[in-house]
Amino acid sequence: EKGGYDHFMLKEIYEQPKAIQDTYRGRLLADEGLIKMAGIDQNLERFLNADRIIIVACGTSWHAGLVAEYIFEDLTRIPVEVEYASEFRYRNPVITEKDVLIAISQSGETADTLAAIKLAKEKGAFVFGVCNVVGSSIARETHAGAYTHAGPEIGVASTKAFTTQITVLTLMALKLAQEKGTINKTQLHEFLVEMEAIPKKVEKSLEYNALVEQISDVYKDSSNCLYLGRGYNFPVALEGALKLKEISYIHAEGYPAAEMKHGPIALIDEQMPVIVIATRKGHYEKVVSNIQEIKSRKARIIAIVTEGDEVVKNLADHVIEVPEVMEALTPLLTTIPLQLLSYHIAVMRGCNVDQPRNLAKSVTVE
Ligand code: M6R
Repeated sequence: EKGGYDHFMLKEIYEQPKAIQDTYRGRLLADEGLIKMAGIDQNLERFLNADRIIIVACGTSWHAGLVAEYIFEDLTRIPVEVEYASEFRYRNPVITEKDVLIAISQSGETADTLAAIKLAKEKGAFVFGVCNVVGSSIARETHAGAYTHAGPEIGVASTKAFTTQITVLTLMALKLAQEKGTINKTQLHEFLVEMEAIPKKVEKSLEYNALVEQISDVYKDSSNCLYLGRGYNFPVALEGALKLKEISYIHAEGYPAAEMKHGPIALIDEQMPVIVIATRKGHYEKVVSNIQEIKSRKARIIAIVTEGDEVVKNLADHVIEVPEVMEALTPLLTTIPLQLLSYHIAVMRGCNVDQPRNLAKSVTVE
């Protein structure tokens, strides 16, 4: 049932091209220049009249929410807040009838996320679910929703659920932008065409697996790791660090690259591998100067770069390439090598990749 792979996690990493495609199939109609999402169409007024969007989730799903914040604000100009469901529900949050709450959950069973939904409903907000498990508690509790079509995710470390959540949320943002008129036809078309090219580009990113495995061998005995990214790739840095923590038990932290000089830079020495997302589109020059600062402190650098990059190649100890893509869609590609890196390191350390200690696939208690 692992389809020839050693672990479910690896199988699920490799399923991403198909999972992403399954998620946009029937929704993304590039030729017609439109997006079909029944859950939005049937509730369009609620979305268009929203004063703001509140996104609630936990763990990896919260990271997908952070990516969504960038894309929703960028495309729709609706203010977005992203909250840990556990913090949101207990802090007497301000919620009004003009709020739209989007709950993201792979399992659809996460206790804190479910409780946040109930709270928002009580206050009159419109609640939309992005779940993977059909008929799950969250799918039933929300007013409307859009499923990710990732298929069953067995590995405790979430992989394909994350990239398909980003896919659904991107489609939602595009759909709303189109309805609001905050994006023009040409921009929308460009997005749709680039989105359709994603599965092939994810496949291409997976071709670097052997290289990632070699790099993993160099860093498998580290006790700490720092992940840095900016903009759309800041949440990817958080997600990369979470993956490493949960399956390899190496302490890792994700940071926005610019925050480095506000503290974490004090940690950097030759013992601290730093993984930097440095794709060409998205604050590239600034990330390059962050890399120079790290290098001058003797840390070893693994950089995720755009194919053909020459600048970072000369600075970093290792580079892993991903295909060129528009900035807003980079998380769908830059995530791939980080998933593979944590996978290989965990395997090399003899960890139980699919069922890491102390963790459960769905957290049904708070
Ligand atoms: O099923 P959910 O998406 O609601 O789960 C949320 C988190 O428990 C989950 O993403 C967790 O952080 C994963 N183990 C991360 O890989």
